[in-house]
Amino acid sequence: MKFPDGFLWGTATSTTQIEGHIDNEWTDFVAQDGCNCRIACDHYHRYAEDIEWMSKLGVNSYRFGIEWSRLQSEPFAPLNQAELARYVDLLDRLKAAGITPMVVLHHFSNPPWINAAGGWTNSAAIAAFVDYVGKLVAVLKDRVHLWNTFNEPDTYACLAYVMGGYPPHRKWRLGQFRRVIKHMARAHEQASHIIQREGSSSRRQEVGIAKNWTFFHAYKRFSPWDRLTAFACHYTFNKFVLNAFLGGRRRKDSTFIGLNYYGRVRFHHFRAMIPASGAPEHRLKEYGFVCDDMVERYPEGLGKIMAYLTHRFHLPVYITEHGSASADEEFRKRDLLNNLAVLQGSITSGADVRGFYYWSLLDNFEWQFGYSKKFGLLSVDFSDERLPRRMKPLAETYRKVCLENSIFHSR
Ligand code: FCB
Repeated sequence: MKFPDGFLWGTATSTTQIEGHIDNEWTDFVAQDGCNCRIACDHYHRYAEDIEWMSKLGVNSYRFGIEWSRLQSEPFAPLNQAELARYVDLLDRLKAAGITPMVVLHHFSNPPWINAAGGWTNSAAIAAFVDYVGKLVAVLKDRVHLWNTFNEPDTYACLAYVMGGYPPHRKWRLGQFRRVIKHMARAHEQASHIIQREGSSSRRQEVGIAKNWTFFHAYKRFSPWDRLTAFACHYTFNKFVLNAFLGGRRRKDSTFIGLNYYGRVRFHHFRAMIPASGAPEHRLKEYGFVCDDMVERYPEGLGKIMAYLTHRFHLPVYITEHGSASADEEFRKRDLLNNLAVLQGSITSGADVRGFYYWSLLDNFEWQFGYSKKFGLLSVDFSDERLPRRMKPLAETYRKVCLENSIFHSR
């Protein structure tokens, strides 16, 4: 159960969910628990402490976002030097701790001036983003060689323009969904060329998106409507999005694929049978579904999607996110080790997997759910204004995995 030499073991976060003190479309958003992200984990001021926690965890990599709204006050503006210096300091501290950074350039948030102009439904976002990326990469290229342009464009466009859960809260605008995806795919293509050009003979720059992969199935195999619903979701959120970013000539715009994998959604009478959609716990139990506080767990699915991606694209893969939210740490431990065992199997069968990032380092602001979903390896006490962090039992399991580069002794 050894992983390849040089495997990256990390944790993942995003700006809006942990930093606090941000001015983007989430600033005024009130989540289902009545809370907002204005302070979040205050990582903005505590990143040095959080890097110390990462060292204690034994990770050798960290996937995190750089917040565009901090760096540019208007289209094509020069980068804000004070905010840039803060991210440079974060990167230098990671380096001193021996932690390889993977930087995410877009994770569900935009500067206010992009939103005011219609967000990514407006093709003007493409040139603005590419300008930002060009300026940022020119400064950071000696410190960063792993770049994620877009995190889960599928989730972003779906929640913002189909389900209405994320700002700007549009529902069933399938045309806008498609337009957002197409614009982001064009931005990825152009940004990726810039990033790859910045590479040198001694250090290649690696770039890819992070694609969320959810399996959509019908609970009853012979229910035609549920099968149709599952197929429509698969077609729209998996197939269409993967083709837009990686199909045909676009494949060469990525040097790797980032895969965010959590599990499966099964439909029963048109209803998504998962806790995140409000399906009652007793029903899920009755059907025999194993779920965390969000979706159904489906570790064997990780093997299936790995086989598909390997066969279709022949690109290296980073598992840019996997994790579970639950108060039951034994459950989370089983979930992690089950998924890692499947991943190990994929590697043995020939998949080129380069790293794994646990979502998340800290309990944080989980978008529309606020602070109610606990994905952290570390807890944060949000009732105490000092926001103290604490290792959870799962952190010890993950630490062993990271330090031994193996899941054998952690079982
Ligand atoms: C992913 C998101 C991440 C977090 C986890 C639980 O879809 O990329 O920000 O919400 O799910």
